[in-house]
Amino acid sequence: MSQSVVSPAWKRSLAANLLKWFGVAARDLPWRRTRDLYAIWVSEIMLQQTQVATVIPYWQRFLEKFPDPHALAAAEESEVLRLWEGLGYYRRARQLHTAARQINAVHGGSFPTSYDEVLSLPGIGRYTVGAILSIGLDQRLPILEANTIRVLSRLTAYQQNVDSGQGQNYLWSVAEAVLPCKSCGAFNQALMELGSQICTVRSPNCENCPVVRLCQARRLGLVDEIPRSAKRKKYEDVTELAVVIGRGFQVLLRHCQPGDRWAGLWDFPRFRAASETTTDQAIASGVLQATGLDVKVGKHLATIKHSVTRFRITLECYEAELLSRTSGSKLTSSTLRWVPISRLLEYPLSASGRKISNLVNSLGVKRPARGSKQ
Ligand code: ADE
Repeated sequence: MSQSVVSPAWKRSLAANLLKWFGVAARDLPWRRTRDLYAIWVSEIMLQQTQVATVIPYWQRFLEKFPDPHALAAAEESEVLRLWEGLGYYRRARQLHTAARQINAVHGGSFPTSYDEVLSLPGIGRYTVGAILSIGLDQRLPILEANTIRVLSRLTAYQQNVDSGQGQNYLWSVAEAVLPCKSCGAFNQALMELGSQICTVRSPNCENCPVVRLCQARRLGLVDEIPRSAKRKKYEDVTELAVVIGRGFQVLLRHCQPGDRWAGLWDFPRFRAASETTTDQAIASGVLQATGLDVKVGKHLATIKHSVTRFRITLECYEAELLSRTSGSKLTSSTLRWVPISRLLEYPLSASGRKISNLVNSLGVKRPARGSKQ
């Protein structure tokens, strides 16, 4: 890192201007009103990959239901996932739950306060420890995430690839070097706030930036070129099929297993369409493979478009009914369950699974099988 960029005077000016600006411009976010490490931790986990406006109601509901690590540790995983439903990246919720159990077992239910102890919790990396302990306890720890990568690389006119090992090392060392001695929590939040409100990816608002005079990218006319990244999101378009198999007033759900896309959640039998084939025969054979059940495919219910990681999915949803020769058969897999339509709300589903479930509820998809009890 260039010494001239982070000279003592430059650093002092950066901290003073940023903190002053944050004092008046900071958004009033609910997790900024607490110093409770547990509540801050939950907010930071939710804020990974998810926008602030989406997180707010989830964070409030989560804290109401699970106000401390003890309450979270005592919950069933399915309750935690149900509350997380719609936020996506469900691994975060499972790890939060596991970590709460670890906090209970190892730390007597109090959120730990040392760097190493916090880092040893599942789902927590260097960024999250720094955020929790600087925001909650004002510990002098740096943070680096998407917003601060942009802000720090522009402030110091870093022209290399920010995703490389070298780029990351450089930016972590800048993040550490710029920390003031006091008010580290406010300073870290101010850097993130600047990145989200002023120093944005496109059309940054340099005219209103409180630290524009310190910005090397601005001085060199490189704001639009920085940060440089080699990453390019490559999307893959796929067609998937989901099948609502009805039996009386019940439908068949599958409990997603570890390693599945939505481990821990429940889902309608779903599979990749072989080369976009959506013929009845292809669907029936997919169902047979996924569930061991023989079905007759019924009407097309909906097309749902959604994205998961790099996949852009077109999900074709169909109704199906059990063929009589298997209608009385027991399910051979413990991961499959007949669920009364009236109880679908109790099961954590993916966002697209919930759309199908709402459709089932509104259409009243029910298919009294011959001789079936209700
Ligand atoms: N993104 C990640 N952490 C954040 C925080 N504490 N406030 C606002 N945005 C954030």
